[in-house]
Amino acid sequence: MAHKITLIPGDGIGPEVTRATVRILEATGVKFEWESFAVGADAYEKFGEYIPKEVIESIERTHVGLKGPVTTPVGGGFSSINVALRQKFELYANFRPIRNLPHIPTRYPDVDLIIVRENTESLYSGLEHEVVPGVVESLKIITEKASTRIARFAFEYARNNQRKKIHAIHKANIMKLSDGLFLRCCRTVAKEYPEIVYGEHIVDNTCMQLVMNPYQYDMLVMENLYGDIISDLCAAFVGGLGFVPSANLGEKCAIFEAVHGSAPDIAGKNVANPTALLRSALLMLRHIGEFDAALQIRNALEKVYRHREKLTRDIGGQAGTSQFADAVIEEMEAQSEVRPPAQSSRA
Ligand code: NAI
Repeated sequence: MAHKITLIPGDGIGPEVTRATVRILEATGVKFEWESFAVGADAYEKFGEYIPKEVIESIERTHVGLKGPVTTPVGGGFSSINVALRQKFELYANFRPIRNLPHIPTRYPDVDLIIVRENTESLYSGLEHEVVPGVVESLKIITEKASTRIARFAFEYARNNQRKKIHAIHKANIMKLSDGLFLRCCRTVAKEYPEIVYGEHIVDNTCMQLVMNPYQYDMLVMENLYGDIISDLCAAFVGGLGFVPSANLGEKCAIFEAVHGSAPDIAGKNVANPTALLRSALLMLRHIGEFDAALQIRNALEKVYRHREKLTRDIGGQAGTSQFADAVIEEMEAQSEVRPPAQSSRA
């Protein structure tokens, strides 16, 4: 039976990296039934809505989305569609593994870090207003419920995946009440997981510590804005934004997307690296139980990077987005010719 997946190609480089990813997914032989929708400015132009109700209904039906990046206008215009979808479906845990692919020269080899970002509140609450001309308030919302929920997600993941250490990242020296509450919730949850070492670092120090020595961390849990910023910093360890995947996870639904944005500077040129969205799709495949297909793609991806002939421009290659996808598919085909028929293992 085909997996029904809501597909949001997004805009900017979104359609290019999504097309590449979907072609690779389909080459695994797994059957998908894509329900594809525009959101954001494109949807508004066609349907007069930034998130058409058909998109919401589709995610409610399929419970799984694969999403390209969507542009959010800076300093005005409509609110982020990305944030709105995360809030609408209570996709409270943003799971962002930062791992090197083998054979890519990067600033640090063998990084294996996991960022767990609270995805529904903090300064992303959208509560902003101009009190009087020249004075604006933006409200940072931190709740016990959301902080406890994200801390528990991080500790449960650590327990079930043999991770050893979690640091809560905060600025509770300045935001004593809001980040103070976040920390209190993390401490309370940490007590239930005595086998996992728990630490706390202030966010500015964390940036410096990460750049000095990323290996000192194992998992990081933090509120929304710090998670956004630290993820981009950590992307630089593993080759840049073209490499970092993410999963937005809730109780009922999950949406998989790259950490990067719509990259207007390179959109429409067939030069974007689809690896980040492809790795997000690997998280999706495991989520829907297609472990063999995930392994097949991961092996092919690693081979393409090992051969270094079809790399995209962001890491010094000359291949376009579509040529990169062709190379991954060719490796998958070559693999299936040598693979014993009954092989099945977890990625
Ligand atoms: P960005 O992530 O789009 O780009 C930052 C830099 O990384 C650019 O130089 C870009 O060319 C490069 N880059 C990003 N992805 C790449 C890829 N796959 N391959 C090669 N190079 C890549 O961040 P920026 O410019 O701050 O944001 C652009 C737009 O994207 C904004 O409207 C922002 O709101 C939106 N955005 C959307 C996200 C989402 O849909 N989840 C996440 C982050 C930003």
